[in-house]
Amino acid sequence: MNNFEITTPTTLVFGKDQLPRIAQLLQSQAVDGKVIILYGGGSIERSGFLDRLKAELSDLELHFFKGIEANPEYTTLMKAVEYIRENKIGFMLAVGGGSVIDGAKFISGAVNYDGDPWEVLDQVPGKVFTSAVPFGCILTIPATGSESNSGAVISRSELKEKRTMGGPLFFPKFALLDPTFVATLPKRQIANGVIDAYTHTMEQYLTFKGENLLQERYAEGILSTLIAIGEKVLENPADYDLAANLMWCANQALNGVLRCGVTTDWATHMIGHELTALHGIDHAQSLAIIAPRLYEVKFESKKAKLAQYGKRVWNLEGSDDQVARKAIAKTEEFFHKLSVKTRISEYTSDYHETAKIIHDRFVQRGWLGLGENKDLTPKEAEYIVNQAI
Ligand code: NZQ
Ligand code: ZN
Repeated sequence: MNNFEITTPTTLVFGKDQLPRIAQLLQSQAVDGKVIILYGGGSIERSGFLDRLKAELSDLELHFFKGIEANPEYTTLMKAVEYIRENKIGFMLAVGGGSVIDGAKFISGAVNYDGDPWEVLDQVPGKVFTSAVPFGCILTIPATGSESNSGAVISRSELKEKRTMGGPLFFPKFALLDPTFVATLPKRQIANGVIDAYTHTMEQYLTFKGENLLQERYAEGILSTLIAIGEKVLENPADYDLAANLMWCANQALNGVLRCGVTTDWATHMIGHELTALHGIDHAQSLAIIAPRLYEVKFESKKAKLAQYGKRVWNLEGSDDQVARKAIAKTEEFFHKLSVKTRISEYTSDYHETAKIIHDRFVQRGWLGLGENKDLTPKEAEYIVNQAI
């Protein structure tokens, strides 16, 4: 088992009818009574949630910033940064999915940053966020785990870039996880949530065998649960217990626990982010495209764990080689059952240069060896993308 350190400081309030609890949490956090509510394109207005939230928080001085888009945009977030600076707001409440919560993390670091905050995401040497405006969140879509982790992914469409940031400063102070939000989600977003949670688990599981036996079982539990409920939630998003199980799986898949003591991969995400940056393909769709092809290309080094996954999660039988291959097919079949396509050409016809561009970007960034063995080269990333067309 590898050495590890874990801090999970976010207070989680999980369940229905918990809005009054959030009011209490906020009142204790917003010392001067000022709070800015950050949100997305308007789903919380249409559902009536924003009005209920305003009514609960009538004792606070509320400010609002609407319009954080899916794959949160640097330019939009910088407008929020300016607003918060001008109005001297000391606490933020992010209401939305991974995009709004990730956006809040970026804003949190950028407000007191001296210089252009993009340079931090660009990993300019010595450029880091050193302080953070505190924030809490209300999660409206189970998917990313962003509600209680400290990572964020920010897009800059004029550069066709999507970059990661994070660190201990960026844990939300609290998160409300109310599964009833799932009822209003479009099917595409539910499927995205299942696949994102599934792939987060695989990134931390499908590496070496036997490093942390408990974490392996925990990951297999999340994968099996997602397989059991995925299609059912799509069919019946208003079923509270199904929605609650999905929300908890998605949280547990990326709250930091699965990575304890194990070697992680994350190459599917790193390649997938480029498909979103270049073609606007949804985050989870990009993972469904890359993951099966990456498992095939990395078959030999992943074979032992793929076989364990196939036996324990899919109940497959046969030699390690047979089970490992069938397990990849089962995984892709599961994505298809969620109505998610797994080929780039099913999303865009503009794919001819994609693999080469990704290769060149990885070279330029010095990403010469990704994955658990640090041996997935830019050439191999290019091959995987070509295989995924
Ligand atoms: O903007 P609104 O109108 O709210 O609509 C959103 C958005 O269009 C809608 N939605 C959310 N809750 C809803 C709802 N519609 C109806 N009812 C509700 N209850 O769903 C759409 C997608 O929302 P988004 O926040 O983009 O989804 P998700 O949570 O999947 O987040 C994806 C983003 O998170 C990043 C991704 O790269 C992407 O930018 N990730 C963040 C991670 C992290 N912080 O740990 C890890 C992930 O791997 C991922 O990279
Ligand atoms: Zn993800």
